[in-house]
Amino acid sequence: SRTLKPAASVTFQNGFKNFSTSSQNNFKVVVAGAAGGIGQPLGLLLKQNKLVTNLALYDIAPVTPGVAADLSHMDTPARVSGHKGPEQLADAIKCADVVVIPAGVPRKPGMTRDDLFNTNASIVRDLAACIAAKAPKALIAIITNPVNSMVPIASEVLKKAGVYDPNRVFGVTTLDVVRAAAFIGEINGVDPGCVSIPVIGGHSGVTIIPVLSQCEPAVKLSDQSKIEALTKRIQEAGTEVVKAKAGGGSATLSMAYAGARLVCSLLRGLNGESNVIECAYVKSDLTEATYFANPLLLGKNGLEKNLGFGNLNGYEQGLLKAAIPELLKNIKTGEDFAKK
Ligand code: NAD
Ligand code: LMR
Repeated sequence: SRTLKPAASVTFQNGFKNFSTSSQNNFKVVVAGAAGGIGQPLGLLLKQNKLVTNLALYDIAPVTPGVAADLSHMDTPARVSGHKGPEQLADAIKCADVVVIPAGVPRKPGMTRDDLFNTNASIVRDLAACIAAKAPKALIAIITNPVNSMVPIASEVLKKAGVYDPNRVFGVTTLDVVRAAAFIGEINGVDPGCVSIPVIGGHSGVTIIPVLSQCEPAVKLSDQSKIEALTKRIQEAGTEVVKAKAGGGSATLSMAYAGARLVCSLLRGLNGESNVIECAYVKSDLTEATYFANPLLLGKNGLEKNLGFGNLNGYEQGLLKAAIPELLKNIKTGEDFAKK
C-alpha cells in the first residue's frame, strides 16, 4: 500500500455541545428514510438543533405525514414538513443544505451488511438522482448499508449528472467513533465524551479500524491481547446489536445520536465555525482504496481538508492491510452497479 500521509493533531468535538452563536442559523436538512428506526429518533434530535430552520422528512411509509405532524408539535424553531412517496421527493429535496439518508433495509441475525446491497443500492441511486437534480450543492450523508458501496453509487450518479463534488458526499461512520469512545470511556473510567479516538477505513467488519494508539487519553490496556479484543469488539459492535435485537433490526438509537452529531458538525462547518472535525468515509487518495474514512476538517463547502490518519503502529498497519482488499471489492460493487 502507498505511503500514509500524516494527520494533523485532532480533537473530536461533540456536536451537541456547541450550538453556533453565528447569525446564519438557516439551514434546510432533509431526512430520507425519516419514518424508520433511525429516521424517527434522528428527526427528534434534529428538531432540537438550532441550526436547522427547515426539517423535511421524506419516506415511502404511510406513517410519514404522522411522524412530521408529531415532531412539528415540539416547541423548537425548526419548521417540519412531511413528504410521502416518490411524487413528493423533489419537494422534500429542493433547496436542501444537507440530505441525510437512512432509507433502506437493516440486517437481521446471520446477515452481513453486503447482503443488503441488492435492496438498498437502487434506493440510494434514486435518492442521489433526485439530489443531483433538485439540490446539487447539498451535502449528502449516507447512513444506508453497506456504506462502503453506497457512497460510490451516489458519487457515480452525481458524476453522471455532471454535479459531483467529492467534498460533499459523506459515508456516515460516526457510530464507529461513538462506540469506540463509549467502550474506551468505560475501560478508562472516564466520561466517554472526553475520549478522542479516530476510527478509519470503512464501515463493515475488517474495514473498521479503530486507531487505538492515537487515543486521547491513552487506552488503559496493558497487553496486546486486550487491545485486539477491544478492536474486535468495535469492529463487531453492529453485529452485537443485531444479535441482541434478535430479528428486530440493527442499531437505531445510537445511530440516530451519531447521525445527528455528524449532521450538526456538517452544519457548523457550513456556518463558518472553525476546527470542526469528524471522521467520515469520503473520496480519498490516501491509500489504494478510492474511498476511505478518517478525520476530516469540515467547512463552508463540506470537506475542507482531509487530515489523513497519521502514524499507525504495526498492529494497526496489519488491520489496514486486511481492510484494503475488502474496501476495493465493496467500492467496485458500488461503481459497477451505478454504471449499469
Ligand atoms: P428501518 O427499516 O427501520 O427504516 C428504513 C426506512 O427506510 C423505512 O421507514 C422505509 O420505509 C424507508 N425506505 C425504504 N425505501 C425507501 C425509499 N426508496 N425512499 C425513502 N425511504 C425508504 O431501518 P433502519 O434501522 O432505520 O436502518 C436503515 C439503514 O441504516 C439500514 O440500511 C441499516 O443497515 C443502516 N444503518 C447504518 C448504520 C451506520 O453506521 N452507517 C447504523 C445503523 C443502521
Ligand atoms: C451498525 O454498525 O450498527 C450498522 O452498520 C448496522 C448493522 O447492520 O450492523
